[in-house]
Amino acid sequence: MLFVTGITGHTGRWFLDRLIKENYQGKIRCLVRENSNTEMLDKSGLSIEKVNGSLTDKTFLESSMAGVKIIVHISGILFSNNVVEAAIANNVRWAILVHTTGRYSKYKSASDEYIRIEDDILNLRDKISITVLRPTMIYGSSKDKNMFKLIDYLYRNKIFPLFGEGENLMQPVHAKDLGYAYYDVLLNKDKTLNKEYNLSGKRPIRYIDLVKCVSQKLERKNYIVNLPLWFSIISAKIYNKISKNAIISVEQVLRMQEDKDFDYENATKDFGYSPVSFEDGIKEEIKEYLDNFEMQRL
Ligand SMILES: NC(=O)c1ccc[n+]([C@@H]2O[C@H](COP(=O)([O-])OP(=O)(O)OC[C@H]3O[C@@H](n4cnc5c(N)ncnc54)[C@H](OP(=O)(O)O)[C@@H]3O)[C@@H](O)[C@H]2O)c1
Repeated sequence: MLFVTGITGHTGRWFLDRLIKENYQGKIRCLVRENSNTEMLDKSGLSIEKVNGSLTDKTFLESSMAGVKIIVHISGILFSNNVVEAAIANNVRWAILVHTTGRYSKYKSASDEYIRIEDDILNLRDKISITVLRPTMIYGSSKDKNMFKLIDYLYRNKIFPLFGEGENLMQPVHAKDLGYAYYDVLLNKDKTLNKEYNLSGKRPIRYIDLVKCVSQKLERKNYIVNLPLWFSIISAKIYNKISKNAIISVEQVLRMQEDKDFDYENATKDFGYSPVSFEDGIKEEIKEYLDNFEMQRL
């Protein structure tokens, strides 16, 4: 029995898509919430059993894992302690945990908690096999929490204020590459058991080039205005004070200067990971945005 959390989310849906494409024959138990949209699960044709509840409920978690052998936990690192605790209590053999490259940030406010949670869990490898997947920033559709906002901003505004020089490297990963990677990790147990993988996009891209790429694919003539860092920090503080829907925080301005490029060589070697480039991956998301925008205007 395979137990999955987060299958209704952005990357979980791609994992499900791959399970369907591969006609996965095993039994799957999916933990979903009362209000989760499970339409795709219900129509999958796979042997799926749903259990309704929250990952915050430890008693429920423990009781829902009876008979489970493997877990794919997609819902987030903040629930990982609960999931692994319940898994050990149920003699689950292997947990594949989707965490984050956020642990590598030099800003302790961003990385400390991730490091603490993950390292505590990795110390439990004598009780359960653990594979950790660490995605970079996820994009790919209106369901992402990052790129869709940038697309919207660039579409609606002529001027794009760039905090700092924009020379820092990004390597966002497409939700499909990630969801499909969950499946490949699962299928290549002999190589992936007890390993850790960073999962990023095809190649690093400078932030300024990423913005230019989105602007160009939107066919907008945006003017990028470079703001010195000291000025950016003061501006971000003021902006966050006056805007209810601020799209950037002061810490994000600072973290934006950090390189976020991460090597995925061991993932390619172990399970053939071969992600799409940002330039290609963003096309569909921009199309989705433009189609929605046109629909709203009708
Ligand atoms: N977004 C990024 O840029 C980024 C970067 C690095 C790592 N990550 C991590 O990568 C993983 C996959 O991301 P994603 O974009 O696929 O996530 P997502 O779209 O936010 O999906 C989250 C999933 O978890 C479920 N969930 C949330 N809280 C729950 C709870 N209390 N009980 C039960 N289920 C709960 C959601 O259910 P509902 O359908 O009911 O909402 C959904 O299925 C996540 O762990 C995320 O933290 C994300």
